[in-house]
This record gives sequence, structure tokens and C-alpha cells, in this order.
Amino acid sequence: DIYAWRKRPSYTYQRHPLLSRRISQACRDRLVRTPTVIAMCGLPARGKTYISKKLARYLQWIGIKTKVFNVGEYRRVAVKFYADKDFFDPDNAEALAVRNQCAQQALEDMCSYLSDDGEVAIFDATNTTRERRRCIYEYCSQTFCFRVFFVESICDSSDIVNLNIREVKLKSPDYKDVPQEEAVTDFLSRIQQYEKRYETIDDTTERNYSFIKIFNCGERFLVHKIGGHIQSRVVYFLMNIHILPRTIYLTRHGESTLNQDLRIGGDSSLSANGKLYGEALAQYMENESIPDLIVWTSQMQRTIQTAAKINAPKEQWKALNEINAGICEGLTYMEIAERFPDELAARDQSKFYYRYPGGESYQDLVARLEPVIMELERAENVLVVCHQAVARCILGYFLNKDADDLPYTKVPLHTVIKLTPMAYGCLMECIPLHINAVNTHRRKPKNCRPDRTAHEALNDFLVTPLDPKPVLRTKSEIFYNSDGTRIKTTDVDGNRIQRNDSTSTDPGLNNICSLVHDLQ
Ligand code: F6P
Repeated sequence: DIYAWRKRPSYTYQRHPLLSRRISQACRDRLVRTPTVIAMCGLPARGKTYISKKLARYLQWIGIKTKVFNVGEYRRVAVKFYADKDFFDPDNAEALAVRNQCAQQALEDMCSYLSDDGEVAIFDATNTTRERRRCIYEYCSQTFCFRVFFVESICDSSDIVNLNIREVKLKSPDYKDVPQEEAVTDFLSRIQQYEKRYETIDDTTERNYSFIKIFNCGERFLVHKIGGHIQSRVVYFLMNIHILPRTIYLTRHGESTLNQDLRIGGDSSLSANGKLYGEALAQYMENESIPDLIVWTSQMQRTIQTAAKINAPKEQWKALNEINAGICEGLTYMEIAERFPDELAARDQSKFYYRYPGGESYQDLVARLEPVIMELERAENVLVVCHQAVARCILGYFLNKDADDLPYTKVPLHTVIKLTPMAYGCLMECIPLHINAVNTHRRKPKNCRPDRTAHEALNDFLVTPLDPKPVLRTKSEIFYNSDGTRIKTTDVDGNRIQRNDSTSTDPGLNNICSLVHDLQ
């Protein structure tokens, strides 16, 4: 029973009902960091899960603790074997009870997450009736003190819906071993079941809600009563994303003279090998013949020189400049270990958050790169020529890396990284261009414990130094299934290639493929 939501005991706030009421008012009216529930709304195959995952990835990347609660996953746990579309018939009382129970469970888990330390929870379900939305709103905003924001995706383009069904829905466990056309027919009937009771958000009877309506994947928007900075960021993000097929190319600059000396930072020119890479890169991009390619560089000499020979319009971004290492600029890691052992220890204990004295942290870099990511979302085919730490942050966004892993991502010199956004993730391919370069990657020390002494940190660094030997890299051959999962990888040089993907039960989630060359 959907009404049961409001009657059930809830978590933290229920223990102090009076206090909770008072906090509730204060939260809604004054507090900036009031947890936010983003409740999706729309018929099946309207991209709700796509939007939910993408939004969660973005919010996580900008440092907002976010989690998606997908009611479909709860349903698949509750009902192991999906028979057919009759399960979604609103007149099927038995099935409806199960579906409501799943929605209720997801809602409670979500509120529990936000009562704990979550900041944003995305409730990924159809929520297609006014009554359902009222229950969500009341439960989240009155029983708890959360802000609620509805995101409705409305799509009347049968082409988009059919594409979504074929590219995403047919890979659902619901249609495992079901012939393709049979599955399409069943899914279209499932949509019809929902259409029987679908009520779009009504801006008169539901005018007290905050919401955005997205028409045909961003052709048009209707934004209503935005509450707070998270909602305005969400709206801005949703208004910038698109679903056109495209590829983002990412590379570091060619090897610089400071790289050769294993020194960090600075604004040096390319080494002889770096210049060769600039030529090889121009040739590679020429061979790819990418329509309407745009090249973005930083404002540092080494990226500008690397991109110089590419036959495409170029733009320089200050935001793409390398991390500012403050007092450590121009030093080798070994010199930092000798001169500033405490700084080195502090950095390894929390590399993402560590800020060089007089310089920046990875966290600062993410904030600086947010406009770049927003433009990348708006753009079509782009080549970004940047730097090691910057490339890690950009990859962190596309591959959903957490703060622990992001600053240690391997981004070798003289390698092109091709990112192809897919249904629920991003396919990554690494293409080394056969030009020698030093290795500038410093591995994560084994011991990063907060109680580690400076002496231990230094020692750990000394047993895992950089490998200064130039490494010859060759092209790898990577083959993919149509859903983006890798089926075979060979590397003619024997370099090990690792795959790192999600392990969700939903096959759509497994589309995030991160292929990283291990140069050791
Ligand atoms: O070594 C090249 C470089 O781009 C430096 O300029 C920069 O400080 C460093 O990489 C960033 O990598 P890390 O955060 O691992 O030190």
C-alpha cells in the first residue's frame, strides 16, 4: 500500500519528532547543505536511468556525496523471474503490491542514506502518478527535512524511445534469453501499461514542487521553483548534456625537457621526443578524420607546441594548466623527499585533498576544471591536450573514479586516450603512438596510513621510485561487444592491460570500461 510509506517508522528523525519538525523548517528555509532527493519521473525508456547515473557521476566528481536508488533493481531482487508486461498492469493488484513494496523499501533506504552522511539521493523510478509523487514529497520533506526536486523526462520521439529500448532495455536481465523482437514487443506493451495511469507533473496542482521537465532529450526545458544551489547546479548540468554520438580524445603534451629531468611543474618546451610525438599526434588525428574536430590546450608551452601541427581549430584554456605544485615546482620527487619529507608524507596520506604550500590540490583542480567538463558535455568531437594531473581529473569524471584512485590513475606520455560515451558509462581505449618517453608516474605507496611517520613515508618512496628508463609502447588491439564490454585484448608488446569495471547486477552498469596500460 503506497500510503503505508507515511505510516512506517522512519530512521534518525523519527526518534525526535518535535526536534525533527523544528529542524525541518530550518533546513528547508535556511540551511545550504540540506540533503536533496532528486526524484525521477517519466515513462519507461525515457532515459531516467541514464540521467540518474550521469548526474550522480557529476555530483560525486564535484565532491557531493550522491547515490542512485533504482527501484527496478529492488524489483529484480524481489521478483527473481520476470514473466511479462502483465506484471506492470496497474490493475494487477498482486504485482502492484510488490512494486509498491519495492518503491517503499528503496525510499526508506534512500532516506536512511541521507540521514547518515549522503548529500544527494536520486530516486530512479517512474513515479508517473500524482499520488506517488505526493507520497515521495511528503515522506521526504515532512517526515525528514530533505529538499525534493523532480526531474521529468518527456519524450514523444518514437525514434529515441526505440533506440533506447534496443540499446539499453534489451540488455536488462528481464530479457535474458528472450528473442530480440519478442523483447521489444513486450517492452512496448510495458510502456502502454504505464501510459494507462501516467500523469505528467502538473504546474497548477503540483506547483509547490520544485521540478524540471526535459522534453525530447534536451530539445526544450521547463524549470519550476528551483530551491538551493544543488538544484541550480543540477539544472545547469541537465541543460548542457546531450546524447549525440561523439568521441573525446585526451592526451598529455609530448615529453618536455623538465619531464626528461624528472622535474615537476614549470613551463618548459618539448624535448626531441616530445616534438616527435607532436608530429605523430597530428598524423594520428589526420588518419582518424574526425568531423568538426576542435583542439583544446592549456596555456603552457608544452601543450601548445604538441598541438601545433594538428589541422583543426585550437583554443587555449587556463583552466587546463597543470596542477600548481607551489614550493615544489621544478623539483624532482626525490628532491621533495629530501627537502620536504613531511610534505611528501602528507601528500601520500591524502593525495586528492593535499594542497602544496603555495599551490593546489587535486580537489582544487577538479573545481577549476568544472567549466571544462561542462563544455566537454556540450561539445561534440574534441581533442584535449593537457597534463598528467589534469588528465587524471578529466578521466576521473568520465570513469567515475573515487578520490582515492583518481590521483594515481596512469596516464602515460605519448598515448592518445579515446573516450566514447555509451549508454550508462564511457568506453576508454588507450592508443600509444610508438614514441619513446620517460615515465612520470609515481605509484601509490603501500603504506599510506595517517599515522605513518615522515621517515616511513620517505622509505616507502625510496623503495618504489620512478622508472626513468624510456619505455617503448606499441599499439594494442581491443575488441568490444556491442554493449561495450571487452571480449579480447591483445598487446603485441606484451604490456599488461587491466580492466576495471563496475560489478553491478545491471548489465547496463557494466558498460564502464576502463582500460589502463601498465607500463611497469
Ligand atoms: O611530472 C609531470 C607532472 O605533470 C608534474 O608537472 C605534476 O606536478 C605531476 O605530473 C602531477 O602528478 P602527481 O600528482 O602524481 O605528482
